[in-house]
This record gives sequence, C-alpha cells and structure tokens, in this order.
Amino acid sequence: MQVTYYGHSCFGVEVGGKHLLFDPFIRPNPLAAEIRVEDIKADFILLSHAHVDHTADALEIAKRTGAVIIGIWEIHSWAERNGVKNSHPMNIGGSFTFSFGTVKMTSAVHSSSFADGSYGGSPAGFYIETAEGNFYYAGDTALHNDMKLLGKYANIDFAFLPIGSNFTMGVDDALVAAKFIKCDQIIGMHFDTFGYIKINKSEAIAKFKERDRNLILMEIGETIEVTQ
Ligand code: NI
Ligand code: MN
Repeated sequence: MQVTYYGHSCFGVEVGGKHLLFDPFIRPNPLAAEIRVEDIKADFILLSHAHVDHTADALEIAKRTGAVIIGIWEIHSWAERNGVKNSHPMNIGGSFTFSFGTVKMTSAVHSSSFADGSYGGSPAGFYIETAEGNFYYAGDTALHNDMKLLGKYANIDFAFLPIGSNFTMGVDDALVAAKFIKCDQIIGMHFDTFGYIKINKSEAIAKFKERDRNLILMEIGETIEVTQ
C-alpha cells in the first residue's frame, strides 16, 4: 500500500489499484504550496468531518476526477447540494464494501460544522480492511474509549492519528490510543499547520520509540510504502 502525504490530515492511499484521498486541505495550506491539487488522483474521497481544514478541496477534486465522496449523511447531502455526482452516505458503526475494501465508519470525539456554520453531522473516523492490509484513519478526535473496541475486534496494521493537541489529542494521548487500538505503526497528522498545533517532532518520535512504537512523520509530498 502506498501512502502519500499532502499536508495537515490529507493523505492519498493507493490500494487495490484505487486511489483513496482523505480530508483534502491543500490550497489554503501554505505548508502544502508545492502540491498541485489539479494533479491529485482520486477514485474515492473520504471525509472525516465537515470542518474546512478537512474538506476545502474536496468538491473541486471530486468534480474533476469523478471520485466518490464517502462521508456521514450530512456530508453526503452537502456534496450533492454542491453538484458532486457520486457520493456515498454512511453513519457511525456502519460498514460497506467498496471495490478497494470494506470501510467501517467509527466514532470520533470532536465537533463538525461547515464553513457557513451549518451542521456537519457527527465527526467520524474510518477503519478500512483491504486485501493488502488494514488501517485506521482516526479523523479529528480526542482519545476515547471506543478505540479499545478496535483493539479488541479489529486488526490494524497501521493507523493515522492526530498528534497536534489543542483541537485533537496530542502526542501523549496518541500513544495511549496506539495501545488501545493495538497498533505499533502510527502515521502522525494534524500537526504544525497552525500556530496552536506546532509540535516538537523529534521529541514526539522519541516518546513513541521509548514505548517500542513507531511514529512516522511524513514530509509533505513524500510517498512511502506501508506493509502489513
Ligand atoms: Ni476538526
Ligand atoms: Mn481539523
């Protein structure tokens, strides 16, 4: 599985010949100025919640590529209202098998509204099972107890967890989350983009190492191969 980082919480994941794109926030992100939004491939765009730092470029990319937007009911309605032809509504706890694998929408503890203040539904995360391995994309969230359910019933090879604190959990809680979900390969997200969420990266990596876990902090534009 190939993972490409586009800054903030936006990742491309290539699996089963399909291009998944999570929470695109590229054009408004000065740190991602090198990324060409018009070149990003997408067959599916998964949106964890409605906040603009997760949805800014979603409509444009969906319209250009014809990608299916996957999100909670209120995000699906927003996509339809805004002229996206293909969107797939889900809700917390539900699973659906797409061409690349099975997506389960998981809970997240956060808020969710669109840029105009309208209701965005509940914030969510995704647990995804594929033939090439399974992963968890936590979305914006606090550390929460439901993560223990993933540790018990899911089989996670790697996970995207927010680590920037202030708006989401920080590094210390992400370490506890890694323990809850029984996963030792964590890709950090939601850090450094804004002043409130600047972190000390080498300290964060060292904290994970001390507990025999791997914290991967990708460079924007970097692609890595993640194995089971
Ligand atoms: Ni948010
Ligand atoms: Mn956010």
